[in-house]
Amino acid sequence: MSVKENSIVRDLSLAPEGHLKIDWVQAHMPVLNRIREQFEREQPFKGLKVAISLHLEAKTAYLAKVIKAGGAEVAITGSNPLSTQDDVCAALVEDGITVFAKYNPDPVEYKELMVKALETGPDLIIDDGGDLVTILHSERPDLLSKVRGGAEETTTGILRLKAMEKEGELKFPVVAVNDAFCKYLFDNRYGTGQSVWDGINRTTNLVVAGKTVVVVGYGWCGKGVAMRAKGLGANVIVTEIDAIKAVEAYMDGFAVMPMLEAAKQGDFFVTVTGNRDVIRGEHYEVMKDGAILSNAGHFDVEVNKPELDALSTGKRTVRRNIEEYQLKDGRSIYLLAEGRLVNLAAGDGHPAEIMDMTFALQAMSLKYVNEQYESIGSKVLNVPYELDEQVARYKLESLGTGIDQLSEEQRSYLDSWTEH
Ligand SMILES: NC(=O)c1ccc[n+]([C@@H]2O[C@H](COP(=O)([O-])OP(=O)(O)OC[C@H]3O[C@@H](n4cnc5c(N)ncnc54)[C@H](O)[C@@H]3O)[C@@H](O)[C@H]2O)c1
Repeated sequence: MSVKENSIVRDLSLAPEGHLKIDWVQAHMPVLNRIREQFEREQPFKGLKVAISLHLEAKTAYLAKVIKAGGAEVAITGSNPLSTQDDVCAALVEDGITVFAKYNPDPVEYKELMVKALETGPDLIIDDGGDLVTILHSERPDLLSKVRGGAEETTTGILRLKAMEKEGELKFPVVAVNDAFCKYLFDNRYGTGQSVWDGINRTTNLVVAGKTVVVVGYGWCGKGVAMRAKGLGANVIVTEIDAIKAVEAYMDGFAVMPMLEAAKQGDFFVTVTGNRDVIRGEHYEVMKDGAILSNAGHFDVEVNKPELDALSTGKRTVRRNIEEYQLKDGRSIYLLAEGRLVNLAAGDGHPAEIMDMTFALQAMSLKYVNEQYESIGSKVLNVPYELDEQVARYKLESLGTGIDQLSEEQRSYLDSWTEH
């Protein structure tokens, strides 16, 4: 069957718009462009099949094209029902990539599309959040033996993979791309920081200055979300469960308090913990009328929706991606993008220049795991430091800037314990 016959997308006639989106991001991804040129020459994936599950928008589409340029046959599916863009999917099919993805499929179809990507029989996998790898191990172990290895995009996926590894369930090596410096320092912090506010602003069209923003979780993403909220003129409150992160937030100039206190004060809430039920019934009880809730963590479990439903007499969509919950006591609470990642479900995700570094790491990690999988064994491994550093160097070069070199005297001074 041809790529076109095999693919499952919403509407192939949307391709022209998708091509424009992909061309735009490609023009802003110089590091990945450089890797594409290397891959075209070296063909590291020649004869191999790669299955990808990522938020299926333009930057991801370009990564898929880069992997294909390296010789692979690529099949791609989404990693969240609301982050897939149908025009991008259509364009990818025209570019010879098998696509199994639609915007907002029902939960059954969403999973079926993932399984279809696995049924192409991949040698290598790129995953985001761990769903593809989990389905493979738990429901389609018949497809496991061919898989050489994979690369995982996000914090939540790595936590799941490490749990699998600990229980001896993981059957191939997976590179923890999220944990590379060139990923979390920029993607989680600056990417999430900017794109979350882009998503909230374009969805609500409300002012942030002067309002109180509650950021739940002060990890790498939370730091970015809080920093950019401050830049927009908000009063920022941080809630945490980790004492060290809480002190860090305090020293960064933010108010720190338990969620039950913060719940009374917030106008906007952004959850970004990777944990479940961080905003729940007891918090809804004390929130202000008109409070706006959103989530930027990987799964839509951070804002407890069943408990919000239980407190409500009804709900209605008041704008695209804004659900108003009408509470029994007359207050309204608004939830953005059904509590799914607000920057991707109600926006275009991270800026292209950020994903340039993240996806360069993905591409290089996939090449690395393909070359080394036999010696690595079934475990979660870090991106080798040399690859991380190479991405930073390519980035600096693309910015037209350089850094200094250690002199021999400086190197020997740093290496010595007697010279001081
Ligand atoms: N939206 C995006 O584009 C995007 C990008 C990268 C990562 N993510 C996802 O965002 C989530 C967070 O990622 P991260 O890299 O910041 O992780 P992280 O581990 O650096 O930070 C999470 C923080 O949440 C805190 N936390 C946990 N439970 C809490 C609770 N009940 N209340 C308050 N704080 C709590 C932890 O102590 C930690 O400091 C993950 O699910 C990750 O997969 C989303």
